[in-house]
Amino acid sequence: MGFLTENLHASHVRSDFQCGNSLLDQYLMLQASQDVKKRLAACFVCTDVVSSNKVIGFYTLSNSSISREFVPIEWQNKYPKSYHTIPTTLLGRLAVDASFHGKGFGGKLLIEALYRSYLASKKIGSIAVVVDPIDVNAEEFYLSYGFQKLPDSGKLFLAMKTIEQLFV
Ligand SMILES: CC(C)(COP(=O)(O)OP(=O)(O)OC[C@H]1O[C@@H](n2cnc3c(N)ncnc32)[C@H](O)[C@@H]1OP(=O)(O)O)[C@@H](O)C(=O)NCCC(=O)NCCS
Repeated sequence: MGFLTENLHASHVRSDFQCGNSLLDQYLMLQASQDVKKRLAACFVCTDVVSSNKVIGFYTLSNSSISREFVPIEWQNKYPKSYHTIPTTLLGRLAVDASFHGKGFGGKLLIEALYRSYLASKKIGSIAVVVDPIDVNAEEFYLSYGFQKLPDSGKLFLAMKTIEQLFV
């Protein structure tokens, strides 16, 4: 089955999107467009080209930062002390409609999100992609791709240097 990944726009059909987490469903239906409009996040959707623009999955990316004290201790010495916050990229949300689970869409969306983040980091500095898993399942999904826990925050990160290795 073919699919397209593009910026969220008004003709994407998301009213029946159900990923198994109602907060993420509601986000896509009610808030994502507003976040895009306000430049709080960029939202990318993967659609089913056969059944006219139905959203199969989506993710959001934003500029972000983490406080120096939350950076793993072995990394802290790499950065000048003048950086009180360290620039990162936030993969804010990622979800796939439940009827498409287990078909590889989640993995493909994640890899694409990492690629976009890597390209952006060559223009605007970012040391890592950070996620804030919504539940234990989400955490396990990200851990299975090599994300590591950030101390004391519940967030996970994947270093941009590691991501770069996927694409060079
Ligand atoms: C997590 C989610 C995005 C995975 O999407 P998916 O399309 O079913 O995943 P894929 O079919 O691409 O699976 C990719 C890989 O991740 C693994 N995986 C999927 N869900 C997993 C989970 N909960 N825990 C651990 N690994 C998981 C798969 O086994 C697969 O590994 P493989 O390539 O070695 O076989 C989807 O289940 C979802 O939308 N869940 C609800 C929302 C959510 O939790 N989002 C996470 C971030 S907020």
